[in-house]
Amino acid sequence: MLNQAVKAAITAVGSYVPKETLTNQDLERMVDTSDEWIQSRTGIVQRHIAKNPLHPTSYLAIEAAKNLIQKKNVDPSSIDLVLVATITPDMNIAATAPYVATQIGASNAFAFDLQAACSGFLYGMSVASAYIRSGQYKKILLIGADKMSSIVDYSDRKTCVIFGDGAGAVLMEKSTNGFGYENDFLRSDGSGREFLYMKSGGSLHPINATTFAEGGHYLKQEGRTVFKYAVQNMSLAAKEVMKKNNLTSESIDYLVPHQANQRILEATRKNIGIEDKKVLMNIQKYGNTTAATLPLVLADYESTFKAGDKILFAAFGGGFTWGAAYLTWNYDQST
Ligand code: COA
Repeated sequence: MLNQAVKAAITAVGSYVPKETLTNQDLERMVDTSDEWIQSRTGIVQRHIAKNPLHPTSYLAIEAAKNLIQKKNVDPSSIDLVLVATITPDMNIAATAPYVATQIGASNAFAFDLQAACSGFLYGMSVASAYIRSGQYKKILLIGADKMSSIVDYSDRKTCVIFGDGAGAVLMEKSTNGFGYENDFLRSDGSGREFLYMKSGGSLHPINATTFAEGGHYLKQEGRTVFKYAVQNMSLAAKEVMKKNNLTSESIDYLVPHQANQRILEATRKNIGIEDKKVLMNIQKYGNTTAATLPLVLADYESTFKAGDKILFAAFGGGFTWGAAYLTWNYDQST
């Protein structure tokens, strides 16, 4: 049984995006597209891309973790668990999280990867919250990190305009002021895996010359279908969480949605009935960074949040996976 009196809170945030950018104008030179099309269909203006081959996902995750550690003066040896949500691990085996933990000096932690695509960070908050509420572990470093440029086909205009690289990290520990992760509504539907996937490299389609020639190592998606399910399911999950917590669109301070596509967010916002100004967005700068979008939003808006702010999260991703969560923000950045 979880202890209902104990809550897990986000007590620190960190982030990292590579310096190099890939603008819509750059993409105009690579595929048959236009800045006008990309902005009007997705809201994206640029993405950050880790061009350095020595900077895989672990590098992004380590930099985000270091940023958090330095900002809040966290002792890495006090961390119990390092959880890395990603679909672009450095390698399929070994997992990325243990390497990240070792590199940041989390010498007393165990570590594992969590694969739930664009819902990875949301699922990760739920896992971290449950561990903390159970009393089993005290300090969890949750990182959402993806180097999407490593699996994007830059000759496929339907996917390459959307994705970017980045990482965000949060520290979750026991709340001391009553604010923190309240609850969530999480779901999945495996029949959706035919609409968003990377075919080869797993046990179903091991890489060989044929899968390579077919481009099976690239991310593929049926954009229109993903779009429809994303709006439908993020809206439904958000409404479930609002009902569970007696929240109204007026009482919610911020909606932090997965940064999939500005039109997906706009349609979801309308379905939930939340005011435009409460929807936090940074997709224009980063594109869709998969597991990193939610913590990158938290990092960008950290100075705006006040202790007690009511934040509703919503995400949807490959699998399909989706959900929503309710969190009351734990601290003012200035204090
Ligand atoms: N530039 C110019 N034209 C493009 C284009 C691009 N980058 N990408 C697609 N098009 C074209 C298509 O070929 C199609 O042309 P056609 O009608 O001649 O066949 C037309 O634009 C419309 O394509 P469609 O796929 O219906 O566009 P869309 O409005 O659905 O936008 C996405 C495409 C991918 C931006 C959109 O579907 C989307 O964002 N889906 C969700 C993706 C996502 O979030 N994935 C991550 C998991 S959450």
